[in-house]
Amino acid sequence: MAEPKTKRILVTGGSGLVGKAIEKVVADGEGRPDEEWIFVSSKDADLTNAAETKALFEKHKPTHVIHLAAMVGGLFRNIKYNLDFWRRNVHINDNVLHSAYESGVRKVVSCLSTCIFPDKTTYPIDETMIHNGPPHSSNFGYSYAKRMIDVQNRGYFEQFGCRFTAVIPTNVFGPHDNYNIEDGHVLPGLIHKVYLAKKNGTALTVWGTGKPRRQFIYSLDLARLFLWVLREYDEVEPIILSVGEEDEVSIREAADSIVRAMDFKGELLFDATKSDGQFKKTASNKKLKAYLPDFKFTPFERAVKETCDWFCSNYDVARK
Ligand SMILES: NC(=O)c1ccc[n+]([C@@H]2O[C@H](COP(=O)([O-])OP(=O)(O)OC[C@H]3O[C@@H](n4cnc5c(N)ncnc54)[C@H](OP(=O)(O)O)[C@@H]3O)[C@@H](O)[C@H]2O)c1
Repeated sequence: MAEPKTKRILVTGGSGLVGKAIEKVVADGEGRPDEEWIFVSSKDADLTNAAETKALFEKHKPTHVIHLAAMVGGLFRNIKYNLDFWRRNVHINDNVLHSAYESGVRKVVSCLSTCIFPDKTTYPIDETMIHNGPPHSSNFGYSYAKRMIDVQNRGYFEQFGCRFTAVIPTNVFGPHDNYNIEDGHVLPGLIHKVYLAKKNGTALTVWGTGKPRRQFIYSLDLARLFLWVLREYDEVEPIILSVGEEDEVSIREAADSIVRAMDFKGELLFDATKSDGQFKKTASNKKLKAYLPDFKFTPFERAVKETCDWFCSNYDVARK
């Protein structure tokens, strides 16, 4: 007889970069017989709207939630729309967490980001430092909204004993990303630019000096870590999900990897008149390593190659 599905896991933001990666690893065999997975997007409910959020929870009656839905974007979109990032994300997060509380959800795993950490800080950054000073001015709206998830998680635990926690990924990339050059993150934007430069026989212009440094995590690695956090990680305190400090790369190195993956032979230029954003935000994955000493990340070059191949094969349908 089939095992009863005792866990109903609702994934908000299920149509995005991270949601699609979780859907893939679950479908590829990492789901368990007692788990039913429900992936939702803004088509199912506008989570900035409290009544729609409540109705979504009443419909699906989840026991667990992975909360990914957010207004997300790269540096240049953040600079333009700080107020929108703040308001939309605060509404989404409050509606999801409160509906989860009201409907008796056993566990929620929300998603913060290493770009919400203080701008002036010591490195590497760890989980205890989230609130130790203002974030970088370029994305203060997104950052403060995300930081408040941690405040709410603590509040729901202290007042009601809820197991609501959060993960802190570094820059994520992979299939199903937003490859829009103006609004997207650095890696998918560069992949799109290389694609066009190759097609049009033009130079590749990277925005900024190429010197800032970032830790990138492949969406499929992040997805496997999300499953572990949902099933095993018992703390309310957040946990950084990142490759090691030694795997941090400069934007120039990331661009070089894309150039190799796409076999681009043209010229590489840097437009230093464009903002670099935060110079670095090196995060420590010591806590993760203590829990999962044997976790293997996909090598960066291979993950970049797989992502470029996906983009080229899905050019017509990719978000761009
Ligand atoms: N990408 C990164 O580098 C990165 C790094 C660190 C943390 N994160 C965090 O990871 C999470 C997932 O990010 P992602 O990169 O997968 O984002 P994404 O690809 O832009 O996807 C965003 C998801 O949120 C949904 N959404 C947006 N507004 C909504 C609303 N008002 N109501 C309901 N759903 C809404 C979207 O639904 P539609 O498709 O219907 O619009 C989509 O499924 C976010 O919380 C983000 O802050 C991302």
